[in-house]
Amino acid sequence: MHTSIVRHRRLRRTAGIRNLVRETRLHVHDLIMPIFVAHGDDVKTEISSMPGVYNLSLDRLDEEIAEIVSLGIQAVLLFGIPASKDSVGTGAYAEDGIVQQATRKIKKLAPDLVVIADTCLCEFTDHGHCGVVHEGDCGAVVDNDESLALLVRTAVSQARAGADIIAPSNMMDGFVGAIRQGLDEAGFEDIPIMSYAVKYSSAYYGPFREAAQSAPKFGDRKTYQMDAANAREALREAETDVGEGADMLMVKPGLAYLDIVRLLKERYDLPLVVYNVSAEYAMVKAAAMQGWIDERAIVLETLTGMKRAGADLIITYHAKDAVRWMNGQ
Ligand code: PBG
Ligand code: ZN
Repeated sequence: MHTSIVRHRRLRRTAGIRNLVRETRLHVHDLIMPIFVAHGDDVKTEISSMPGVYNLSLDRLDEEIAEIVSLGIQAVLLFGIPASKDSVGTGAYAEDGIVQQATRKIKKLAPDLVVIADTCLCEFTDHGHCGVVHEGDCGAVVDNDESLALLVRTAVSQARAGADIIAPSNMMDGFVGAIRQGLDEAGFEDIPIMSYAVKYSSAYYGPFREAAQSAPKFGDRKTYQMDAANAREALREAETDVGEGADMLMVKPGLAYLDIVRLLKERYDLPLVVYNVSAEYAMVKAAAMQGWIDERAIVLETLTGMKRAGADLIITYHAKDAVRWMNGQ
């Protein structure tokens, strides 16, 4: 009788054996740390719904960059909070825009740190949408093609400031092709595009919009970001971006969309990025602060699950803590 039992537990008997047969490993190089760069002097303001994450002014970037570098994290994703906003998001593509200045500063502080610039208008428009808004017959609409021109300007100015990777998150149609062409024409044919190819319209961005002060003033993003109910549409989005020359594909948010990560992993050979977004972070922090969960174990399990689902890279606000925990600190 006992001979017919399949003994799976043999390979779980000791920590050493479990280490030998582990299929998925987190590595510090898998992690990308987002940074919110704010206008002003001597600003270090904690985002209330994201404990441990700050709005930092340019003169307070040094300490953050030093910490990131000392942990061995080798890539950051930049978002900007400008001093002023207007209807066409001028601050996004200004030569001395907040992201451009931060990029120059970081490349000076840490030349080997990979600077990824988020390319969108919503942090820079007074209405909070990711493109230019026009009044249409049935209310305001985000004009796709007009927005593209400004997004191209944004990407080129970010590359000119020294960004190593351009990461467009705006979800306009044709953004990868337009930005690729714009970068090439400006002499940046070697700068890769990390496309937010599959970006869902999601309540999980709530805390980010507090951090970036970028919530839309009217309406929502459902006419350009994807419907949470759709999976095959994700394949169409990815297919288009691959065709337009994307170098990496992203799925966002992470936790509620790991089936989409698996789907893309099986279909495409490009590096696949998952964005472990702001509310995913906020939920963990809130429960941890109540003493309801083991934060360290939860975070490492979540990040491992994202890799197991197919992520090659993970953008996460937990990056610094995760590295400390991975190092046994
Ligand atoms: C800007 C942008 C957003 C996020 C990344 N880039 C917000 C949005 O689309 O509303 C969300 C990131 C997060 O929630 O952590 N387009
Ligand atoms: Zn946006």
